[in-house]
Amino acid sequence: MHRLTDLREILRYVPRFRDRLFVIAIDGAVVEDENFRNVLLDLALLKSLRIGVVLVHGALHQILKLADLTKQQPSNLDGSGITDDATLQLALFASSRVAYELVEGLDAADLHGVSGSFLVAHPAGILGGIDHQWTGKIERVQTGLIQSLVAQDMVPVVSPVGADGEGRTYRLNSDHVAVEVAAALKAAKLIFLSTLPGVTLTNLASEKASGAVKTAIDRQREPSVEGLLRSLSLEEAEAVLAGHRADIAPELASKLEQAVRGVKLGVPRVHLIDGRVSEGLLAEVFSNLGVGTMVHANEYQAIRKAAKKDGRAILSLIAQGVANDELVRRSRAEIERTAEDFFVFEVDKLPVACAAVHLHPSEGKAELACVCVDPRFENRGIGRKMIEYGESLARQAGMREMFLLSTQAFNYFQQKGGFIQGSPADLPVSRREKYDKSGRRSLVLVKRLDDGIGSNHGAR
Ligand SMILES: CC(C)(COP(=O)(O)OP(=O)(O)OC[C@H]1O[C@@H](n2cnc3c(N)ncnc32)[C@H](O)[C@@H]1OP(=O)(O)O)[C@@H](O)C(=O)NCCC(=O)NCCS
Repeated sequence: MHRLTDLREILRYVPRFRDRLFVIAIDGAVVEDENFRNVLLDLALLKSLRIGVVLVHGALHQILKLADLTKQQPSNLDGSGITDDATLQLALFASSRVAYELVEGLDAADLHGVSGSFLVAHPAGILGGIDHQWTGKIERVQTGLIQSLVAQDMVPVVSPVGADGEGRTYRLNSDHVAVEVAAALKAAKLIFLSTLPGVTLTNLASEKASGAVKTAIDRQREPSVEGLLRSLSLEEAEAVLAGHRADIAPELASKLEQAVRGVKLGVPRVHLIDGRVSEGLLAEVFSNLGVGTMVHANEYQAIRKAAKKDGRAILSLIAQGVANDELVRRSRAEIERTAEDFFVFEVDKLPVACAAVHLHPSEGKAELACVCVDPRFENRGIGRKMIEYGESLARQAGMREMFLLSTQAFNYFQQKGGFIQGSPADLPVSRREKYDKSGRRSLVLVKRLDDGIGSNHGAR
């Protein structure tokens, strides 16, 4: 496993998550695993970095043990089928036991865990003609209560049960609860810690996979576990479920379904990791080589390829940059002629940023040009997304290197975009001639595209 020996790597990720919230969903079996103590230490580290933590737990493992001990047959195991009276009692007993262990464990790690009634629920009701009895459906997450505990530096522990405010308690599916809680709290991440590895498609050659899944398989680099899909966009995760459900374990498929639901409800990143792996949680959050699978929202959804009709909008976007000599002057006709190279970032259907990628295939090089963000939309990470998108286009076209010319924003591209300073000798021959003629004496910056760092580098 990739060990976290590089403290700088952790620190690089800290600002991104400071004062944000992570929801961590722990299966009951992980609480009983010997690695649980390490998980608690990892949580303490997250807290010390000013990342808020909310725990949601499952209790399947404990329900099974208790049922065995008391020679009972639960009417349903995962809180999604029928919960009869006896099973509700089993679930409540097992659940409070796990919640207690979590609070006690947090206490031992110098964290203040608080378990309580955080979910309002009503009966799932009669589904398909079958009364689900004590199985519930979440009506509301008590976000105010949870947030005030987090603000007081506490760690709320949410159990998979919900109360209806009239003295009745219903049983819930814990994965479902975790998704609802993460979405309601607008968490930056939802992390499932279970006894399953990430989504692994062993024995599946990429040629046999369908479109989106093939792209996903091909994109994974340096797999430490054969077939492990480290990152999946929402569309890719859905394609895995639609076309390859039979190739993954059923429990994993159900977690992946919840991950997809989480992303659709607005959680930007949902991780599935094995909670028994030492340092797994930290490696997943703080390195670009996580141990599990991350399902993420499509960050490029606001970006689209430009067309001729965008000429005018692009021209007005870059006008100020041209006036400040940050950007090369381009005529509308020139932009329209090369419109295919341009892409724009839209907010409410209006382009607020643009950039272009010009390919030089014979030399395997691509130029990133005309990166420009409307000043009203600066400092929101749009520039970075434009760079990443441009890189992904160049990679797809088989380019090995990207270069750009900059007169004023060179620090930005070095500090935020991972470019390094090059020289005019790095330019393709035809581009070099134009460069010499222009007399702008821009700095040449370069970046290799085949260094093993994926398009989601630094973005787990
Ligand atoms: C440079 C530019 C593309 C940045 O876009 P953006 O969407 O605001 O950038 P992001 O949100 O991705 O990044 C913002 C970060 O970059 C930093 N930054 C912005 N401009 C910078 C510069 N010139 N040098 C160094 N850092 C810079 C910000 O301080 C901020 O830092 P933080 O994340 O640590 O708070 C945009 O300001 C722009 O269009 N500038 C004018 C056009 C230009 O010069 N284009 C380059 C020619 S190819």
